[in-house]
This record gives sequence, C-alpha cells and structure tokens, in this order.
Amino acid sequence: MAFDQALYDEILAAFAVDTEHLREAAADFRQDMRLGLAGSPDSSLRMLPSYLGLPTGEERGDYLALDFGGTNVRVLLYRLEGNGRYEVLSHVAKPLKVDGVYDFIGAQATGEEMFDFLAGLVNEAVSADHVTPYLLGHTFSFPSSQTNINDARLIIWTKEFAARGVEGEIVNELLRAALVRQGLTNVTPNAVINDTVAVLLSAAYVHGDTKIGAIYATGHNTCYLEPYVGMAQPPMIINMESGGFRKLLPNRFDAALDEVSEKKGEQRLEKMVAGRYMGALFGMALAELMGKAGRAYDFTSIDLSRMLEDTGEKAQAAATIVETVTGEMLSAEDAVRVRGLARSIVARSVRLIAATFVGTLWQIAGSGEIRRQHIAVDGAVYEKMPLVKENLTRAFFELLGADAPKVDTILAVGGSGLGAALAAAMTERN
Ligand code: GLC
Repeated sequence: MAFDQALYDEILAAFAVDTEHLREAAADFRQDMRLGLAGSPDSSLRMLPSYLGLPTGEERGDYLALDFGGTNVRVLLYRLEGNGRYEVLSHVAKPLKVDGVYDFIGAQATGEEMFDFLAGLVNEAVSADHVTPYLLGHTFSFPSSQTNINDARLIIWTKEFAARGVEGEIVNELLRAALVRQGLTNVTPNAVINDTVAVLLSAAYVHGDTKIGAIYATGHNTCYLEPYVGMAQPPMIINMESGGFRKLLPNRFDAALDEVSEKKGEQRLEKMVAGRYMGALFGMALAELMGKAGRAYDFTSIDLSRMLEDTGEKAQAAATIVETVTGEMLSAEDAVRVRGLARSIVARSVRLIAATFVGTLWQIAGSGEIRRQHIAVDGAVYEKMPLVKENLTRAFFELLGADAPKVDTILAVGGSGLGAALAAAMTERN
C-alpha cells in the first residue's frame, strides 16, 4: 500500500495554521477575554475568578497539597521556607486508571468512591497521623465556579472524566466528608484552586515577574493575573478555561473526535491541542490515508512523541508504532509521511496555544507595552514532546516581532502541588 499524495497534502493542509490565522486566533482570544470579564454570554471563555493574587515569596510553614485532575493523583506535604524555597517532606502518587483496576474517573464510579480514594491517599501522606493539625490546599483541575477561595462548585467534567454525582457540587465539601470518614478530622482543606493557578503561584514564588500560568498535558488551560478586576480591587488570578475557546475552525477530524467524546460540543480548543486527544486525531487522519476512514486507532501523544524523537531518514519509529497499533506495514516513504502527519498535528497544537498566550499578553499590557515576563507552563506535552519549544518561539516571533524576546516560557515542574501548598499558606495568612 502507498498513500495517495494528494490526499496526504490535503490532510496536512487541514492541520495547518498560517500566520494570518494565528493572528486572528490571538485577536479573537483577547476579545473573548474582554467579553468574558464583562460577563457577556458571547464569550467562549469562562474567566473564573480564583480569589487569589500572587504570593510574596515569603510564605512559610508545613502544608498539605492534593493534586487531582491529571493522569496521576498526588498528595504531598510541603515545608515552605520563604525566599522561594521549599522542601517536600512526603509524597504519595497513584495513577487514576490502571488497566481497569482502579477507575475512579469513569461513569461507573460515584463521587463518594472517588473522594474516599483521595482521602485514603491523604491518610498515607500523613502516615495515618490523626492528631497533628494540617491545612490542605486542593488543586482541582476542572472548571469550577467560586465565590471564595475554599468553595468551588464543579461546573462540568472535562478531559473525559465522568464520576457520577460531582457536577454541581462543592468539591471541598465532598473532600471534607471523605476525610472525616477516614478519621482525618485533623486535616482541614482551606483552599481550592485550578492547576493553572497552582502553576502560576509556584512560578511566581520564585520569579515575581510571572503573570501567566498554563498546563499543556492531558488537558490544556491557561490562567493569568488580571490587573483590573474592578474598582479598588487588587489584581486577581483568573482561570480562563481556555480549553473551551471556540473561535477556531475545526477540521473533519476534530468534528469526528468531538462526536465520540464524553462532552460533545465542549472544549473545542482543548480537543484540538491537548495530550488526551492528539493521538486520536492522528489515528483518524492515518485511517483515512490507509483507506480505512472511520476507524478509530488508539494512538497516544506518547506515540507521537516517539515518532518525532526519531529523526532518522527512514522514520523507523513511525513504522514500528503504526505496525503495532494497526497491524499494517508501511514503506519507508509512507513512514516518513506518517511522521510528517504527527509533526503537523503537534505544530497546530503549539501554534494555537501560542496564539492564546499572545492574546493574554495583549490583555495584560492593555494600552501599554508588553513587559519582560515569564510564562510558566507545566505538563508532559510541554516538557517532553519534541518541537514544542521551537514552534512556540516561532509563533511568538510571527505575532510579536521585536517584543518576542521579552517573553520567556519556563517549565514549572510539579507546580500543581507546590501551588496548592502556597494557596493554603496564603489563605491562612489572610
Ligand atoms: C481541563 C480543565 C481545566 C484544567 C485543564 C488542565 O481543561 O477543564 O480546568 O486546568 O484541563 O488540566
């Protein structure tokens, strides 16, 4: 079998984002930020207030952090030492889904089972100490509406999570009840934040000039420090839920993926860019090339990463991975094309995210200039996927020109945990 060149070119074009399209996406994103801040229903961005500003860097003390919402759930005990320094005193991590053994995220689980599992991990992290009082910061990585720092109501599950009976509930109340069932009345959750907010807090603890925090992993989302939330109000971090940004043109693969997803019609940007979905998009496009349109091959973003790591002339890794997943042998020429497909899916993902970052930089700058600053990003796709940093830099140059070097994107590993501990400390101080 050999792929049809015209079809291949057309599929690559369907994933391409040219400079003009990039600029439009950035401008539309900024427009949606403004509309969302003003409460307009025409915005596709939820713009959720976090009730937190940035840390001072002088936060100190021992705090628990629960990080829930990615592939793994973690509980950590941090010792914050001020001056941007900290130590991890204990650390428990479990995958949320392992070969069907655990599955606290699927529709067959109840919220109660899920929170009992989380409380069990907290119990492990404190070595079943039911006496020492602890404050706990909770990173809960889903769209939640808040009226204060400790009460977050889950609006809707994203990233294919589906545990029953949690949407519409105040998550820290469910957590508190589960902690009580574990006998952990000494652990008090006092802050709940989105993972992007956690990333921003953790980076700002060290680099005060960080105003934007993002996750580029299973899911994708960005938050930023809004300088003007209202008269006489201090700046506040806003969780944009940018994965829900809609002013984009989905191609036929995006449309097909949306059809089979848990929440049809939601999270347009996220379904085009996040690690949870890139493998599936690749599988659908590849099926078309193989003359098997409609087949859903189960590729992961890790597969794409491996294909791109292999820069060899014959794209051997692409051939091997495709054979393992589909049973089809590829010629060397088609293997190279397959790697090109992976490259274009990753490039689109990075370019669209770059456009949202630029829209956010414009909003922060207001009518002034873009200042020197860091954008903090955490997540396996940002950390490990080849070509991400190059594509990001290129897109920044296309849109920002001479201002591009002012913006330094940094990796904030483990930010989801550290940020939760910081939120607990900041809340205690207030
Ligand atoms: C999804 C969630 C969002 C989270 C992101 C990254 O987009 O809705 O709240 O920040 O995933 O985990």
